[in-house]
Amino acid sequence: MRTCTLGILSDIHYAGAAEQARGRDYELRAIARPLVRAGATAFRRFVWRRNPFAGNARLEQFLQRAGGFDYVIANGDYSCDSAFVGLSDEAACQSARECLGKLRQRFGGRLRVNYGDHELGKLSLFSAHGGLRLASWHRARTDLGLSPLWRLDLGRYVLLGFVSSLVALPALAGDMLPAERPEWERLRQEHLAEITAVFAALRPDQRMLLFCHDPTALPFLGREEVIRARLPQIELTVIGHLHSNLVLWQSRLLAGMPPLGGLGRAVRRFSTALNQARQWRPFRVRLCPALAGIELLKDGGYCTIQLDPEARQPLRFQFHRLRGAGAGGGDYKKG
Ligand SMILES: [Fe+2]
Repeated sequence: MRTCTLGILSDIHYAGAAEQARGRDYELRAIARPLVRAGATAFRRFVWRRNPFAGNARLEQFLQRAGGFDYVIANGDYSCDSAFVGLSDEAACQSARECLGKLRQRFGGRLRVNYGDHELGKLSLFSAHGGLRLASWHRARTDLGLSPLWRLDLGRYVLLGFVSSLVALPALAGDMLPAERPEWERLRQEHLAEITAVFAALRPDQRMLLFCHDPTALPFLGREEVIRARLPQIELTVIGHLHSNLVLWQSRLLAGMPPLGGLGRAVRRFSTALNQARQWRPFRVRLCPALAGIELLKDGGYCTIQLDPEARQPLRFQFHRLRGAGAGGGDYKKG
């Protein structure tokens, strides 16, 4: 079997016409306190993303450049989630539908699609708006045809994608509506059983590549005995969600910090995730940055993995910048 090339893109945050009509400052308008709004404005402008609709142009750029991939994996977050309730919002659903439509048209049956947290809804970072919605879960499946679990076998490699928000549900308690909580917990148990069944059936000579949008899920996977026993077989876990390697490095620096209370639910959720970040290590995490990167570093792009199905050669993981001359990046070699 010849070498396979996987193309990976994440956090596209595409904006269809209805989300664009809400204006670029949709998140800032939701903030009631002027001081918080001023801080958030500066953060958006200089650090995170000046234009939240920048993902559209980057997607077109990716589609033009992407070629020669045997498979393409989209690692979550297809809309801007400008109402903060995921795909249950018609405008966000329209964005995700357009975004996935473009990818499906280009890659057809070679495309595998993961859920991001913004598909299901997410509390705004700076205000108390939004959160997980069961209606978004149902819409992802019925309207967009997203499969919660997918598996692709390439020789000795098993590639597995799953819903990180479901696995990490205990860390997202504040994002759920109380009436929906029992159903979310039932869905989580069902999903965990599906994931552990894949690990349980793994042969000793097989290797795994995990695709997981939000790394907050990884410590929860590691608590499952069946998975813990097979951690050495995980060759690589590709995450998204953090948007930039700068955030991944910061996460490693802050790993083990105590959870911060009293600064809002979003800060508590983020600091709780960092508290557990040391447990990401056995999963051999690599980040696929947001397609548009962050404002501070302008580091948007996509990743590729070259894989020998017989596992005679080490995996080769590469980042490809979408703007500027500095294309290329760190290779990944096992060991
Ligand atoms: Fe994202």
